[in-house]
Amino acid sequence: MSFTVAVDGPAAAGKGTISRAVAAHFGFGHLDTGLLYRAVGARMLAGDKPIEAALALLPDDLERPELRTAQVAQAASKVAVIAEVRAALVDFQRAFARRAGGAVLDGRDIGTVICPRAQAKLFVTASAEVRAQRRLQELMAAGNPTSYAEVLEDVKARDARDTNRSESPLKPASDAVLIDTSALTIDEAVTMAIAAIDARR
Ligand code: DC
Repeated sequence: MSFTVAVDGPAAAGKGTISRAVAAHFGFGHLDTGLLYRAVGARMLAGDKPIEAALALLPDDLERPELRTAQVAQAASKVAVIAEVRAALVDFQRAFARRAGGAVLDGRDIGTVICPRAQAKLFVTASAEVRAQRRLQELMAAGNPTSYAEVLEDVKARDARDTNRSESPLKPASDAVLIDTSALTIDEAVTMAIAAIDARR
């Protein structure tokens, strides 16, 4: 039997951390769907056409370290507005969601569009300022020096693009459990997420 957990929310709200911890706790597989859009964005920066890149995407494309840069993140949110790019990535995500043993998918439209019938849905959010602070620390730790102001602007630009696009915009599913991580530790947020999923099992 498959059991799907959909985790959506804006950039740097803690979705990835929570999703990895939840997947480990329940023994489920985890797919960071942002990596699909980042891989297409990276191919666009390298000169490929986004739709062709999305149709030709290979699992190995998701393993490349440069996908984590701010430049690729912006490119990802640009290709993510293209309906044909999103359509090309649907089957891969749904197949992952159905895998035996359970799956956690994190992204922007998992609970609303990709897996509307997911057994558990979480919407993980935090203030733009808290998210920018966290992203700044991640980028610095990864050796990509930048400033708080630049990261905050980046976070807000991506929020605006992800929320206002007509194709699968970022929004909580009506049946999602909201987790605002602004004032929570990682452990607290993970505990809340596990409790919300346990309630659906
Ligand atoms: O989660 P992330 O920061 O890696 O996502 C990068 C971009 O990809 C994000 O700005 C919007 C897009 N994205 C999307 O449109 N739908 C998803 N399910 C996941 C990511």
